[in-house]
Amino acid sequence: MKADILLGLQWGDEGKGKLVDVLTPNYDVIARFQGGPNAGHTLEFNHIKHISHNIPSGVFRESSINVIGNGVVLDPISFKAEIDDIYKIGIDLKGRLKISRKAHLIMPTHRILDAASEAAKGQTKIGSTLRGIGPTYMDKTGRNGLRVGDILSSDFMEKYRFLIKKHQEILKQFDFDYQIKDYEAGWFDGIETMKQFEFVNSEYLINRYLNEGKSLLAEGAQGTMLDIDFGSYPYVTSSNTICAGACTGLGIAPNKVGEVMGVFKAYSTRVGGGPFPTELTDETGELLRKHGGEYGATTGRPRRCGWLDLPVLKYAIMLNGVSHLLMTKADVLSHFSTIKVCTAYNINGTITEEVPFDIQTDVEPVFVEMKSWGKDISGIRKAGDLPPELKDYVVFIEEQTGVPVKIIGVGPEREQFIELS
Ligand code: GDP
Ligand code: IMO
Ligand code: MG
Repeated sequence: MKADILLGLQWGDEGKGKLVDVLTPNYDVIARFQGGPNAGHTLEFNHIKHISHNIPSGVFRESSINVIGNGVVLDPISFKAEIDDIYKIGIDLKGRLKISRKAHLIMPTHRILDAASEAAKGQTKIGSTLRGIGPTYMDKTGRNGLRVGDILSSDFMEKYRFLIKKHQEILKQFDFDYQIKDYEAGWFDGIETMKQFEFVNSEYLINRYLNEGKSLLAEGAQGTMLDIDFGSYPYVTSSNTICAGACTGLGIAPNKVGEVMGVFKAYSTRVGGGPFPTELTDETGELLRKHGGEYGATTGRPRRCGWLDLPVLKYAIMLNGVSHLLMTKADVLSHFSTIKVCTAYNINGTITEEVPFDIQTDVEPVFVEMKSWGKDISGIRKAGDLPPELKDYVVFIEEQTGVPVKIIGVGPEREQFIELS
């Protein structure tokens, strides 16, 4: 079997969590391949909302096996909180959740370093979720990191203390007050919770699953425009969020990749700092935020909103080899009579469809205006019942990108989607 991949094509929060939950019944295994608790993947069923940060979004379907891959950075504190919340609704993940020995641990001082570094940046801050993501990946690439597999080694405490000391030295450069003790007790509690789950050589496990004919869906976090290499650097996260990240973050060879499902919102959002060509800072942007409920699932911050950006979408499709598009939140555009789509950029008089090296320069979006469907679609379940204007919107996107749209989201609940043939 080949592994399918589902990932975000914009600046994150495209609705990946909901779609993984929708698709999980088609898969035996769901595996997260990068990121950490900076992610907030929301899924809703029976009118209850769940937000996954560290754990794959497949956990709510009891038949699935869930794997946290080596590319993930894991925070024991937020991991424990998540396990406790899931347990409260009657789901026991023991035996169903496996953690890679090679996943790196977010330490209490990584969170402090993240906060100190952002505070020192002032106006140019990234708008990080302050979950310690950047410092943890820095220690990983700097070959200093602490990994899940180290937890069971006899010198774990020694390694932990050594790294904490190193971080304390670095923190002396910052004018920043902190208390490691605020986090430490919770962190070691979290380590105990982690020990209840199986630590695995996930690269072997995953390849064994594929060889046995098990179907596997790799779940991405963040989105292509937050990728460390190809996103709007430096306003990005610290991992490869693109398809290649699933290969390195799970140990899947490129020739074992099957379908690549790219998720995008019918419009655009971004949370945190950085360029956003189609951003609407006017009343229309406010309306998108209001009708879309656009507030961060991890930090609660208001998301910046704007129209759909096709140069970004095409760029993401190219980088990820997207075979199918999944469009979420079409229902939000029901509240508008007309909608706009950015088809190109005007950069100082030159029209281009390419995302430039420095998106910060004067990038002016070139828009086409389309009629919206202007009516409630949240109860529609069949493609044949879609309003003609929404069909036109989808056909336009398919023609522009050359990739078929397979699913349209019409609301946050598990059942609220339409499959297109
Ligand atoms: P993720 O990080 O990609 O999983 O996305 P988030 O969970 O951060 O943000 C997506 C938000 O949109 C969540 O509140 C979802 O419940 C919600 N959502 C997902 N799909 C749809 C949809 O089709 N329509 C509406 N109205 N909400 C959706
Ligand atoms: P999901 O998986 C949206 C953004 C932050 C910030 C930048 C760097 O829910 O789509 P970091 O904490 O990684 O150092 O933050 O990236 N960011 C996200 N934005 N969705 C996410 O994840 C994000 N994860 C990080 O807001 O601008
Ligand atoms: Mg999110």
